Amino acid sequence: MEKEWKIYNPDGKKRVVVTKELPGNTWLEVLKNSDCRVEVCQSGEIVDNKKILSAIGDKCNGVIGQLTENWNEELFRALKNAGGVVYSNYAVGYDNVNVDAASKQGIAVGNTPGVLTETTAEMAVALTYAVARRVVEADDFMRHGKYGGWLPDLFLGNRLWRQTVGVIGAGRIGSAYARMMVQGEHMDLVYYDIYQNRQLEKDIKAFARFLESHGEEPVKIIRAESIEDVLRAADVLSLHPVLNDKTYHLITSKELAMMKENAILINVSRGAVIDEADLVEHCQNNPDFRAGLDVFEDEPEMQPGLPDLENATIVPHIASATRWTREGMAVLAASNIAGILNEYPAWESEDISPFLGENRPKAAPSIINAQADRVPAYSG
Ligand code: GLV
Ligand code: GLV
Repeated sequence: MEKEWKIYNPDGKKRVVVTKELPGNTWLEVLKNSDCRVEVCQSGEIVDNKKILSAIGDKCNGVIGQLTENWNEELFRALKNAGGVVYSNYAVGYDNVNVDAASKQGIAVGNTPGVLTETTAEMAVALTYAVARRVVEADDFMRHGKYGGWLPDLFLGNRLWRQTVGVIGAGRIGSAYARMMVQGEHMDLVYYDIYQNRQLEKDIKAFARFLESHGEEPVKIIRAESIEDVLRAADVLSLHPVLNDKTYHLITSKELAMMKENAILINVSRGAVIDEADLVEHCQNNPDFRAGLDVFEDEPEMQPGLPDLENATIVPHIASATRWTREGMAVLAASNIAGILNEYPAWESEDISPFLGENRPKAAPSIINAQADRVPAYSG
C-alpha cells in the first residue's frame, strides 16, 4: 500500500490527490508553488472509487482524476467533507463527471481543452488514411510473409482526393479535422452541429476562393440540416460530438444503413456515441465499409467480433497521446487545481496558451461549472 502513493512536497499545506502519474514536471511545479503536498497513485491499473474514497480521507483540498473514473455524487460529497473545493479531469471530455453533483457541493470542475485539439484531430486523420489505404491489414500481411510480389489488385483501398468528408460535431476537434481533410485532400465538407461554426465556414470559403484563383475547382462546405444528410453524403464520416444523453448511440444499425456501402467511419470522441455491437454486425455484413476507432463503448473491453474484423482499425484511446499534449494537459489540470485553491477567477478565454508559458496567468484555465457561457460544441 505505502508504495502505491508517491508523495511530493510533503510539507505543503494543501493536500492534492492525483490518481495517476502524469507526464512532465511542470505540473508538479505549479502545485508545489501553490504550497500543495501532492500524492500521486503509482498503480498502473484503473483506480476504483473505493480506493479514491480512501485516498481522499479526511483532508483533501483538490483532486486530479482520470476519464476512466466515475466521479459521482458519493465522491464529490467525500471530497467536500474533506475540505475539497476543486476537481480537475485530466481530459477535455467529462462525461465521467457528474458536474451537477460537484456544483451542488460547491466544488469547481476543470478540464483540459485547447492543448489536444490538433493532436486529437491528427489521430482522426491518421485513422482515416490507415483505414482508406488498409495500412494495418497490409502491414500484417507483410509480417506474416504473405507478400508474393506486386499485383494489380493487392489491397485496393479508397481514394480521398476530392471526395466528401462528413463531420458530426464541429467544435474545436471536429473543425480541426475538417480543415486538415479539406485543405489536404480538397474534400467537400458536410457538417452537422446544432451551432453554426461561422469561422470554419469562413475559412473553408476562403480556401475555395484561393483554389479558384489558381484555376482549380473550389471545395464546398455545407452545414447539413440533419444527421441523415451527413450520413448519406459522406465518403468519410468522423464523429466529434460530446457524449451526453442525446449523443449516446447516435450511430446504430439504422444510421449505418444510410451510409454509402464503402464509406469510412472514424471515431475518436467517445465509444458510446456508436452502438458498437451494431457496428460490428455492419462491418461483418459490408466488407467494403471500414471503421477506424480510438474509443470503445465499454473500455477496455471490445464488443465480441470487433478484434476479428479486417475492415476495422482499432487503437487504444490514444488520440491525445503526444508528449507535448499530455504534458500540456497536466499543466492545465494542475493550474485548475492551483487556481481555485488560490482563489483566482476562472479564465474566460478559449485560448489557454498563456498557461503553457513561463508567466502563467493568475486564473484557473478551464472551469466547466464556472462559465455558463461555455457551451459544449454539440448537444444533439
Ligand atoms: C480524451 O479522451 C479526452 O477527453 O481528453
Ligand atoms: C473539444 O475540444 C471540442 O469542442 O471539440
